[in-house]
Amino acid sequence: MKKIAFAGTDGRTLLCALVISTAKSDIYPEAFQGAVIRGTPAMPKFTEMMNWPVEFIPTDSNSASDYAAAIIRNLKAGKIDYVIPMPEALLFEGLVDEVEAAGFGKHIIGLNKAGAFIEGDKIKCKQFCREAGIPVAQSWAEVDAKNYNDALSVCLSYIHEFGGAVMKFPYSAGGKGARIILNSWEIREVYDKLIKDYKDSYKAMFGKRENWPLLIESFMSGVEISFTILVDRLGNFQILPTAMDYP
Ligand SMILES: Nc1ncnc2c1ncn2[C@@H]1O[C@H](COP(=O)(O)OP(=O)(O)O)[C@@H](O)[C@H]1O
Ligand SMILES: [Mg+2]
Repeated sequence: MKKIAFAGTDGRTLLCALVISTAKSDIYPEAFQGAVIRGTPAMPKFTEMMNWPVEFIPTDSNSASDYAAAIIRNLKAGKIDYVIPMPEALLFEGLVDEVEAAGFGKHIIGLNKAGAFIEGDKIKCKQFCREAGIPVAQSWAEVDAKNYNDALSVCLSYIHEFGGAVMKFPYSAGGKGARIILNSWEIREVYDKLIKDYKDSYKAMFGKRENWPLLIESFMSGVEISFTILVDRLGNFQILPTAMDYP
């Protein structure tokens, strides 16, 4: 029996754990048990009501260190075998690093702190893609979010050349930081909304005087498909089935 645990506090942790416990596979005949690390207070009761074969592992708080402590304790005791952190914040805060430092690096999946910029900083990620020759939007620019005129001129030129622009708050934004602009009338509105939504985050990160990095990309049209590849540090990889992460 292998136990796979999903760490985090949203509904996906429970659904993933349930699938692990109940899915049948021809390739992997071994039995699997799903677990949730932390979850929400309502989950254990609901799981019991539904009679779902899912286990729960509590943590002292929502901090990455407390997740790490619970994970390391349970890995040591053999109560879980593998851990999948769900919220990216846990990666930014170094959950993978802590588990690795305790000697359990092979039992957790996800980016360590040094690599997590790929998720947490879209501008650094773009620079990385350029160095690695990974194709991204045809054109992108970084402007100071406080300077509307700069944002305006980049958007106008992208609308002219590519049919649209996408303004992005370039840091962790819970999937709400990218705003598509398809005509010049929308630029001001989208800009104002984005500034309203992220002014406080910008202020907290950079203060009032420093530049507020705003990423603007040229619009790409077509069907969007997500490719997910699991890779380890030795270059071993496994390509997962393609997915579409929108309705
Ligand atoms: N340059 C682009 N052209 C067209 N659509 C885009 C572009 N960039 C982002 N999008 C759309 O916005 C979504 C979110 O953007 P993304 O950069 O993946 O941010 P995140 O996933 O961090 O929210 C994408 O999945 C895609 O649907
Ligand atoms: Mg995305």
